[in-house]
Amino acid sequence: MTNPAIVANGLRKSYGDKVVLDGIDLSVPEGTIFSLLGPNGAGKTTAVKILSTLITADAGSGSLHVAGHDLTTEAQAARAAIGVTGQFSAVDGLITGEENMLLMADLHHLSKSEGKRVAAELLERFDLVEAAKKPASTYSGGMKRRLDIAMTLVGSPRIIFLDEPTTGLDPRSRHNMWGIIRELVTDGVTVFLTTQYLEEADELADRIAVLNDGRIAAEGTAEELKRIVPGGHVRLRFSDPAAYQNAVGSLSKATALDDDALSLQIPSDGSQRDLRAVLDQLDAAGIEADELTVHTPDLDDVFFALTDSTTATAGATVPAQPKETVR
Ligand SMILES: Nc1ncnc2c1ncn2[C@@H]1O[C@H](COP(=O)(O)OP(=O)(O)O)[C@@H](O)[C@H]1O
Ligand SMILES: [Mg+2]
Repeated sequence: MTNPAIVANGLRKSYGDKVVLDGIDLSVPEGTIFSLLGPNGAGKTTAVKILSTLITADAGSGSLHVAGHDLTTEAQAARAAIGVTGQFSAVDGLITGEENMLLMADLHHLSKSEGKRVAAELLERFDLVEAAKKPASTYSGGMKRRLDIAMTLVGSPRIIFLDEPTTGLDPRSRHNMWGIIRELVTDGVTVFLTTQYLEEADELADRIAVLNDGRIAAEGTAEELKRIVPGGHVRLRFSDPAAYQNAVGSLSKATALDDDALSLQIPSDGSQRDLRAVLDQLDAAGIEADELTVHTPDLDDVFFALTDSTTATAGATVPAQPKETVR
């Protein structure tokens, strides 16, 4: 087993009497994408700033390690291993994209020729060659974000913090950015990604932590998180009307969805045990469906269940028929 790239124990941060992070625990394995998901003001940027050594955690925090280095005693070494793309662009609009890149190369003490080589390579990789000689202020939002990430990569960091990299981007630029993030990980880089978009965390992250009220409300894979929420179901579709009617009549928990489409659904958490029970019930009743699909709630359902304290405790107010995620 390799060491985790990022480990936080009991991470705390307050501003005055406002508690922003109230003891959060995180562990991010090397070469994975970890997503810290939370609404505006949840403390995502604060967590990124602390873990990337831009600000310090409160004294009452537990140990914090990044790239194997203790942040309280070896911040410098940790800093050498990471790259940060902040929520607000670090791009200087007055100079060109290329000049921004060369500036970063200087900051990383690359030689002039090495700096030029790295800048050219990254501008190419991020599809910015044509724009490279133009002032960055003329770039679109998506181009600025790409330049921002390209600048972050100049120092070849092993761990990259991306703070809301797609906020404000149009759908196409967002998909582009997703491609870029996936590519980073295939190169073995660890990505710590914050987002307000459930869809984005679902799309990209190996593990997701939901930040709410200064605490991690839930943590796991997208699939694990979806299973927390009731509302999953198995859907059965028939082509034979008689078989369909037979199923509606004999499955006590079944809800007829659509008589024309000959489909019905049965509540299920999607677990192996639950699916087996459903299949046993079908077998016992001699029912053979033409199609059986498992539908888990999507992350929106999870998010609302976890972050709205009234629904989290009541549980029953979570929508019984969540939206489908079509893959
Ligand atoms: N330097 C600061 N001084 C006082 N309050 C701050 C400071 N930085 C952040 N906060 C507060 O901490 C909370 C979390 O902020 P932030 O980490 O930026 O959230 P997010 O990135 O999830 O939107 C907010 O209520 C914000 O107002
Ligand atoms: Mg933020």
